[in-house]
Amino acid sequence: MLEVRNLHAGYQNLEVLHRVDLKVPSGRTVALLGANGAGKTTLLNVIAGLVPAAAGDILVDGRSVVSEPAHLRARGGICLVPEGRGIFRHLTVRKNIAMFLSGRNLGAALERVGRWFPRLTERLEQVAGTMSGGEQQMLAVCRALLVDAPIVMADELSVGLAPVVVDEIFDAVEMLRAEGRSLLIVEQYADRVLRVADYVYILHKGAIEFVGEPAQLADGSLFHRYLGGSADVPQSETAGGRR
Ligand SMILES: Nc1ncnc2c1ncn2[C@@H]1O[C@H](COP(=O)(O)OP(=O)(O)O)[C@@H](O)[C@H]1O
Ligand SMILES: [Mg+2]
Repeated sequence: MLEVRNLHAGYQNLEVLHRVDLKVPSGRTVALLGANGAGKTTLLNVIAGLVPAAAGDILVDGRSVVSEPAHLRARGGICLVPEGRGIFRHLTVRKNIAMFLSGRNLGAALERVGRWFPRLTERLEQVAGTMSGGEQQMLAVCRALLVDAPIVMADELSVGLAPVVVDEIFDAVEMLRAEGRSLLIVEQYADRVLRVADYVYILHKGAIEFVGEPAQLADGSLFHRYLGGSADVPQSETAGGRR
């Protein structure tokens, strides 16, 4: 369980996040939605330890990690798939996978990657930055699958990708979910993530304005209020929770 309590954070003298409370129960998937500039990336970075908290607490299974440096939080089980992917663009796919693992069990890892994403296996010797956006995102998500972090946060997985590719990426999200990981998935455009999410938070100008279940967003009015009407949520996609 990941818990954020009364969190304030920002940059220099600009406070971006105000009094944020958020919970990701063990094995559950939380969608964090919000317009561009709402503070979504800042929140993930504060949880990962890349941006300091000005006040408040961050707990993993009840233990405060708010004063730990990022590498200890990573070792303690928080994995961030960052905006812009966080892969080594100038290294081959094979070397990227080796870096994710710090060299451990590369053979076994490559076998697992082959099962999840056959297309990556065909590109092991390709320089990662020369792959398509979707293939690069697959590689980024592979890191979350390969490291055994119980908490996985992903920032804008679907940005710039064609719908069919977004579906492939979310298949990997479903695998993480099926493994019982706790997931915090940030998206600006909501429709795909709401099919996997148990709970939804809407961040508006740095404050949490809505907490609930995906079905509660089905009428679209909250989208219009907080997300500029950018997402259409067909009834069928949300009423049943997930596919
Ligand atoms: N490194 C930074 N330094 C100063 N301000 C920043 C920095 N990163 C983000 N911001 C500001 O923080 C606010 C929230 O940004 P961000 O967390 O990236 O929002 P989102 O991910 O929801 O689009 C914006 O006003 C943005 O300009
Ligand atoms: Mg962002």
